Amino acid sequence: PHASKWKLWDRTDVATTLSDRSTFSHKGSFGTGLLLAGSDEMPGSALLAGLGAMRTGIGKLVIGTSNFVASIISTRLPEATYWFDGLQKCAKGQLIQGVRAAAIGPGLNAPYLVEEAINCLWERDIPLLLDAGALMERNYTPREKPVVITPHPGEFSRMTGKSIEEIQSNRIQLASEYAINNQMIVVLKGTYTVIAYPDGTGVINTTGNHCLAKGGSGDTLTGMLLALLCTETDIKSAVANGVYLHGACADEIVKRKDARAVSISELTDVLGSVIQKLT
Ligand code: APR
Ligand code: MG
Repeated sequence: PHASKWKLWDRTDVATTLSDRSTFSHKGSFGTGLLLAGSDEMPGSALLAGLGAMRTGIGKLVIGTSNFVASIISTRLPEATYWFDGLQKCAKGQLIQGVRAAAIGPGLNAPYLVEEAINCLWERDIPLLLDAGALMERNYTPREKPVVITPHPGEFSRMTGKSIEEIQSNRIQLASEYAINNQMIVVLKGTYTVIAYPDGTGVINTTGNHCLAKGGSGDTLTGMLLALLCTETDIKSAVANGVYLHGACADEIVKRKDARAVSISELTDVLGSVIQKLT
């Protein structure tokens, strides 16, 4: 990748690109996001992603998950609504009305259903985010609306057949190649998350720390990105801002307590003040 096409994403970039919220806005202005996440063994993934979405300004959130998962998480996320067994329904070609963007993958371990659900979502004219259980090696057909993938190095290895060592020593190059070849936005996670765009440009994130090295931090990011896909028009900066803010929350929290003691569900507790300080 050409160095001039890449930059570090900094606080000024966030402050200048995060859009203002109009006085005359209503929940419809900020869109409905569909989150297909959570399974009976991983109910918390849907909760963490849901908190991420709800606290990043989404208008409405519909979580497609099991009745069991919904009953666990709804007391801690009263703002969301549920589409029971949304994954199974989506896999059969059904979709709810009025969805502005969709994310699929956190806490999902049903590869066949996920594959069918992605096929259904792929045909819809909305931005799509694929994470975790939705990240597999596959051939993508071109589509109009943006696609964002958020692999950690292990998932990127599964998707590309390359070893984790090779990926980690060529993060920018490999993310950029994948983004260009598949025409998607690749968020290759880890310390200094790399965000590669389909036009060959990219940014590197500098926020975040090892308090994020815990199960559930990626799920939170997925929810935050879903909200930004629903609320922002410039998708390139929206994705970079989501990654920046997610890391900035972690940086804020470790000012006050040791990283070991941080629970991932605290991340979005500080998001409001982090955004206020930036903008
Ligand atoms: N410094 C900065 N950022 C970090 C660090 C670090 N040392 N460690 C982790 N992070 C960030 C990553 O950049 C990423 O944003 O934390 C997040 C971790 O995301 P995931 O690896 O997806 O973590 P997780 O939420 O546990 O994933 C849940 O989905 O990806 C699958 O196999 C995974 O089953 C697991 C589930
Ligand atoms: Mg993950």
